[in-house]
Formats: sequence, C-alpha cells, structure tokens
Amino acid sequence: MNKQLDMTRIPEHIAIIMDGNGRWAQQRGKERSYGHQAGVEAVKRITSESAKLGVKYLTLYTFSTENWSRPADEVAALMGLILTSLEDELFMKNNVRFRVIGDVSRMPESVVQKLRETEEHTANNTTMTLVVALSYSSKWEITKAMRDIATEVKQGTLSVDAIDDTTISQHLATNFMPDPELLIRTGGELRISNYLLWQIAYSELYFCDTFWPDFDEAALHEAIANYQQRQRRFGKTEAQVENEEK
Ligand code: IPE
Ligand code: IPE
Ligand code: MG
Repeated sequence: MNKQLDMTRIPEHIAIIMDGNGRWAQQRGKERSYGHQAGVEAVKRITSESAKLGVKYLTLYTFSTENWSRPADEVAALMGLILTSLEDELFMKNNVRFRVIGDVSRMPESVVQKLRETEEHTANNTTMTLVVALSYSSKWEITKAMRDIATEVKQGTLSVDAIDDTTISQHLATNFMPDPELLIRTGGELRISNYLLWQIAYSELYFCDTFWPDFDEAALHEAIANYQQRQRRFGKTEAQVENEEK
C-alpha cells in the first residue's frame, strides 16, 4: 500500500489545519459553502486512512474562535454541515472515538447536543481518536487554563511552587492526548492561526499548497514520508541522537 512509509514510525498524533475550502470553491465558480461540503469528504477520507495507518490521535482544526467573525450565512452553513456530517457510520466502521475541544457554549444548542451524542456513542471505540477543534483557539484555551490554575491556587488545592509544564498541559483541553509529532497545514498559508500553540512546541511542521478538499490519501502519505525523513533532536546534537538510536 505504501512502500515509502516506515510503518514503525507513524506519528501517534497528527494535527491538521484544514485550509483552502473557500478558494477551492471559488476556483470552480461556486459558493464558499460548496468548498466546505467538499471538505467534509476529505475529513472522511483522512480519518479512515489515518486509522488504517495506525495514527492514534487526529486533531482537525474545523472552526476557529476567529471564524465567528465570518459572514453570518457562511457561519450558519458551517454549523449546518457539522450537524449533518456527524454520522455514526464513519466512527463505527473505523472504530474511531470522537472528541470535541473548544468553547462549544458558543455553538447552537442542536449542534452541541449532536456533538455530545456522538462523543457518547463512540466513547468505547479504540483504534483512533478523532479530535475536532470547534470554536477553538489556543489563546482561549490557555487563558481558560490560567484561570483554572489561579482558582485552584486561591482555593488552596494547588501550590504556586508545584506548577510546572505538566500542570499547564493537564489544564488544557487536550489533556487526554500526547502533543502532536506532526502538524500539517493545507492551502498554502505559512501560519499557525491560533492553533495548539503550547502543544506544537516541538512538532514537525509540514505546509502544502493543496486545498483541503483535494487532500487525499496520497497527500497524507507524502506528509508522513516527509516527517519520517526528519531527525527530531529536542535540543541535542545530531551525534547524540544517533547514539541513542543505536
Ligand atoms: C478552511 O477553509 C475551513 C474553515 C476555516 C472553516 P477556508 O474557508 O478558510 O478556505 P479559504 O482559506 O478561504 O480558501
Ligand atoms: C484556520 O483557517 C482555521 C481553520 C482551519 C478552522 P483560516 O482560514 O480561518 O485561517 P486564517 O484566518 O486565514 O489564518
Ligand atoms: Mg482559510
């Protein structure tokens, strides 16, 4: 299936900034929402393929805090799509657990209910966890964590001296998974757009020009193959890392 991939070195966690739906549609003379619809098909393909490859966590940036300032009709179309695209079949067929991160209190009640239902229905699936970042931004998440930590200190359940980087990770919405080894952004922009700022401290970054609706299994393989060519040094020297690998 994928000769060029080292199946022993598949990232445990891949995070994706799924960008380029609007431009994909505009190139075809269509409304932006047509691109979002096509983007849902790409989500299904990449979810199935990631589960097959042995990825344990796939975190998809689906709607950012900043996306609330898009035109109302586009926001409404996106909320509608979230509601209709959460089919149990995708999760059950691939044994995938569904989780949401983000400030869902800002989402319509019908969507929140569907998200919670899907989380519950899929809670016991074990092959992979699909994490959807909705109404999410890293600054929102870190601010909330800081407030929660401050509250615990004030209540006397946490001492200031005990706060370390693990404490902060544990207070983030992503506290149930490891940090991503690989971050992919489609659509050609070279920026992070308020996504997982703390968690990508040492992630390998991969940017491609492909618009999200065109991102397919081969494109995913290419990103992983590129990741596998890199040496992750975590501050050490090349020689140190090579010695450790022996
Ligand atoms: C990404 O595609 C999807 C969302 C942000 C919801 P865009 O809608 O940003 O597409 P472009 O970047 O305008 O092409
Ligand atoms: C980032 O895409 C957010 C998502 C993919 C959900 P945007 O298209 O909103 O990013 P910017 O604003 O152009 O950086
Ligand atoms: Mg965009």
